[in-house]
Amino acid sequence: MLHSSDGESSDEIDVPDGWTLMEGARQEGVQGIVADCGGGAICGTCHVKVRPEWATRLPEPEPSEAALLTIVPELGETSRLACQIPMEPEFDGIEVDIPTRQL
Ligand code: FES
Repeated sequence: MLHSSDGESSDEIDVPDGWTLMEGARQEGVQGIVADCGGGAICGTCHVKVRPEWATRLPEPEPSEAALLTIVPELGETSRLACQIPMEPEFDGIEVDIPTRQL
């Protein structure tokens, strides 16, 4: 489930196994996930804040993701790049908030 930070909307999407959260969001036209670089972890426009109950279940960010996250607007403790979140079965039901603006 992807929630807008303003609380105005939520999108529940089905993401095929092996896709990333960003790919699923783009496929479904979720507002706020821009993903200019197409998943290369270089644009920072797929920033999401993972709900705390899910954040600890994700693998640690790679150094490139961690570096990019330092410059995204509205950085939070559970910020991640949606293009680096693999939609494995164990992440079924993950909930994230989409910042009001991206890089
Ligand atoms: Fe560019 Fe995720 S799509 S950083």
